[in-house]
Amino acid sequence: MPTAKLSVNVDHVATLREARGGREPDPVHAAVVVKIAGADGVTVHLRKDRRHIKEKDVKLIKEVVNIPLTLEMGLFDDILEFAIDVKPDKVTLVPERVREVTTERGFDLKDKSEFEQVKRFVGKLREHGIFSGLFVEPEKEVIDKVLDVGADFVELNTTEYAMKMNLDILHKIAQASKYAVENKLYVMAGHALSVHNIQMVAKIHYISEFSIGHSIISRSIFLGLQKAIEEIKEAIRVSRLLSD
Ligand code: PXP
Repeated sequence: MPTAKLSVNVDHVATLREARGGREPDPVHAAVVVKIAGADGVTVHLRKDRRHIKEKDVKLIKEVVNIPLTLEMGLFDDILEFAIDVKPDKVTLVPERVREVTTERGFDLKDKSEFEQVKRFVGKLREHGIFSGLFVEPEKEVIDKVLDVGADFVELNTTEYAMKMNLDILHKIAQASKYAVENKLYVMAGHALSVHNIQMVAKIHYISEFSIGHSIISRSIFLGLQKAIEEIKEAIRVSRLLSD
């Protein structure tokens, strides 16, 4: 069985940069490391409030880092125009809410006006040759609606499973991914996944790609903090030595 692809979301590298408003750490540099580490793609979410990733980050990753780029975005016309201009490899539409801390839910597409708006966005992206998908709740009825809007892929929301690690929820994800594949959709899954909860989800072979961010960026701090401390201690020591 081939392994699933991994696209690494580097938003929170930019969150840390924005905490100081400077240049470090740079999400473009992170995208280079993602490539060197052998991941299959980089994901960024250009939020309406631009709280982490900015337009220039997306453009630079696309132009400089030779790795498939997924752009996550809410239903905003200015960001749609930007996406059409930059042409990422895929666009994941998400139901972004203004003051949410992170994406809180996948689309259920029950609301008629939301359904029509999603359909318009998917149509525009298709017109410009951009592979488009929707972040959705893992339910068969929602997959039917994704087929109605004509998207190319779904990303199933794994938050509830990640929090509860409940087998009924896992089963729902498995059923929804099977149904999506049977209906010729490319299937991704993501949100709140980590090394502690991915094992059972990774067994669902209908899922072709995982999108994971916060946990990877968080863990990278402790995988690298010791080295960073040793490095600065050495810089201080050498500098003192040379000044003696
Ligand atoms: N998928 C979608 C649609 C998201 O909005 C996010 C968060 O930006 C992710 C995946 C990644 O989630 P996490 O950072 O919890 O791994």
